[in-house]
Amino acid sequence: MDIDLLQTRREKLAENLNNNEMLVIFAASEPTYPRYFLQEKNFFYLTNLEIPKAILLIAKSNNKTSINLFVERNDPTLTVWIGEKMSPQEAAEISGIKKVAFTDDFEKTFQALASNMKKCYFNYKKSSLEEPLDRAKQFISKIKDYFPALSYGSIDELMRPLRERKDEWEIEQLQTAIDATAKGIETIMKNAKMGMMEYELEALLNYEALSRGLHHMGFKSIVAAGHNAATLHYSDNNCEIGKDDLVLLDVGAACKNYSADISRTFPVSGKFTQRQRQVYAEVLNIQKTIIEMIKPGVTMKELNNKTVEMITASLHKLGLIKQDKEYKKYYMHSVGHHLGLDTHDIGRRDATLSAGMVITVEPGIYISEENIGVRIEDDILVTENGYKNLSAAIPKEIEEIEKD
Ligand code: GLY
Ligand code: MN
Ligand code: MN
Repeated sequence: MDIDLLQTRREKLAENLNNNEMLVIFAASEPTYPRYFLQEKNFFYLTNLEIPKAILLIAKSNNKTSINLFVERNDPTLTVWIGEKMSPQEAAEISGIKKVAFTDDFEKTFQALASNMKKCYFNYKKSSLEEPLDRAKQFISKIKDYFPALSYGSIDELMRPLRERKDEWEIEQLQTAIDATAKGIETIMKNAKMGMMEYELEALLNYEALSRGLHHMGFKSIVAAGHNAATLHYSDNNCEIGKDDLVLLDVGAACKNYSADISRTFPVSGKFTQRQRQVYAEVLNIQKTIIEMIKPGVTMKELNNKTVEMITASLHKLGLIKQDKEYKKYYMHSVGHHLGLDTHDIGRRDATLSAGMVITVEPGIYISEENIGVRIEDDILVTENGYKNLSAAIPKEIEEIEKD
């Protein structure tokens, strides 16, 4: 990745800091076996570093910005177990940050800077009382009595304007993730047969992603057959696929942490039943209409309202509801979200679309009592004049799906 791009991101972030404001971003901790390491996304966006427990500190005073990075010191007694830690020199080369020290020095540097500061932004997460405090919250609870004049803010406020619209490099990563996911979906549709287990289909996607160098998914794959497709967050993927089942896939490989997020629904037999086809055709028509609406100036709210209006009409047509408000029984999520480093990315939920944003469009109808769940989801880049469907190559027309 181009170091100039990282530097531009850090400069833009610093522009949004007032004098006597600073920010601290803690990298992710080591994963607990058997989960793989997933970097904290803001830390990654600003440093391109995939190392645990590092810390980024940016401060502004007298209109000058200082940037400090802290990395873990190598522990020779652990090398045989976990390998060498990245050296400060290497971290400096990858990130383009000149001042790199060991994490042992972080508190001293923070203290020296914080005494002149009014506000510090941290990457803490909203959490409930039952959850353990994250690194940022632990640090705040430790220092707050020492700096009573220092106020605290969430880094999301500063990062949202940067991450909401994607640069060219980010679009390339998303496209690579989407293309690998497309290959996985194609392989699944070709090979799926009744009697297979859902996880066998998941394995085909993993194979296609890994064999293209993408070593993790953006989120736990959903491979849901028959009745399972009507459970929105089903991801056990451990049931046998029945003869007339529809299979709902909601999957996305990740490239450099950028996540694809694509849903397709297909009949395992290769042929929709009449009822499945009816429901599918409604969802497909709605999805295409919503995608066509996308251009700068349109709001996410308008997309959601139009979806609800169309789904309600479809549910009447399918004989499922008598009153409009009953639509919630069969459609209970929103039509899309920003997509990027996080699958549900940091952009505002009520955003007015502008060029460079990437959003999903994913209407669905879920009829539990009929063992039918249909969702169709594409990843859409907002352009100056309209949109580009980044996942357009993945079949979704009834004739294309039945051909497979
Ligand atoms: N895979 C989660 C979603 O579609 O939003
Ligand atoms: Mn999805
Ligand atoms: Mn989605």
